[in-house]
Amino acid sequence: MPVSRSRVFRPADRRIGAVGFGCAGLSPWMYTRPNLDDHAWTALLNAAVDLGVTLLDTAGVYGEGHNERLIGRAVTHRRREVLIATKVGLVVDDLATLALRRDGRPEHLRRVVEASLRRLRTEHVDLCYLHRIDPAVPLEESWGALAEMVAEGKIGHLGLSDVQVHEARRAHRTHPVAAVQSEFSLWSRQPLGNGRHGDGIIGWCAENDALFVPFSPLGRGFLTGDITPETRFPPGDLRARHPRFTPTARTDDRHIIALLGAVAERRGATRAQVALAWILAQGGHIVPIPGTTRLDRLQENALAAGLELTDRDLADLDGATPATGG
Ligand SMILES: NC(=O)c1ccc[n+]([C@@H]2O[C@H](COP(=O)([O-])OP(=O)(O)OC[C@H]3O[C@@H](n4cnc5c(N)ncnc54)[C@H](OP(=O)(O)O)[C@@H]3O)[C@@H](O)[C@H]2O)c1
Repeated sequence: MPVSRSRVFRPADRRIGAVGFGCAGLSPWMYTRPNLDDHAWTALLNAAVDLGVTLLDTAGVYGEGHNERLIGRAVTHRRREVLIATKVGLVVDDLATLALRRDGRPEHLRRVVEASLRRLRTEHVDLCYLHRIDPAVPLEESWGALAEMVAEGKIGHLGLSDVQVHEARRAHRTHPVAAVQSEFSLWSRQPLGNGRHGDGIIGWCAENDALFVPFSPLGRGFLTGDITPETRFPPGDLRARHPRFTPTARTDDRHIIALLGAVAERRGATRAQVALAWILAQGGHIVPIPGTTRLDRLQENALAAGLELTDRDLADLDGATPATGG
């Protein structure tokens, strides 16, 4: 039974779950994952759709194509129920160290979109992001190549990832920006600009009918309270070398966990749910994409869409001191 309340993806006039699913963690990518096989991930993806978690976020680079293949296999029989969002424009140089480079050349983008479509077993992808702007290629050239693929029916809508307002404006002049994806959470608030619906990219998206899609909305797990200063990450886990996850930063930032815990306790919710509800309260055009490898957490996260925070909750959370780690 669906538990995730819906939101409208305005550019396509489509309803999607208010909480989406960031699927990267199901492939060898960023974090260590449980040693389960693709059957388990297929079941998890289908459980997500059953719960009403219908925005599935992937990228060509996640597990060097594994993630898209997984989604293609898992949901091909219910393709119309899901909004598949993928990303192009990054190249993996070394999967073990996650060494990436940008490639926004039109011929490259065209080739990798075709490869994504094959892996996803679909004739068109609903949303395709330029994963990062390539400084060596004028944005209009990369964006123009993707816009051509919209005209050909291979892409439904275009999005940008990790961009500033001036870059979104620039792309929008050539072809509409339907979505922007950036890191956004209680401890990464830069997309708000100078306040709620201020001059940040979240406000720009609201003004331009674009979806705003926060990635790493649970602070890569930190905001759930499950990661303590004592937690040890294996070398292959990105967090082992992430400045927000040094033992010192984790100790200094415990106050954010305490604050989330206090709100969670008075609302009868979990920290993860409060963290997601705070994000959802920042605008009706926002759909966060938490990642998880566990069904119980998928359900927990989806239920955050039904948690309405009070003015006092929001004021307390808004007042959180920013994170110390860079
Ligand atoms: N555009 C970009 O450049 C970009 C960059 C990063 C990420 N992304 C996208 O954003 C998605 C999500 O980001 P993310 O995975 O980095 O970070 P996240 O969603 O903030 O956190 C994921 C971590 O939180 C844990 N977790 C999830 N739900 C939980 C819960 N209810 N209670 C306790 N722990 C919980 C997960 O562990 P378990 O698996 O053990 O539950 C995992 O370690 C990615 O999958 C990807 O699609 C995009």
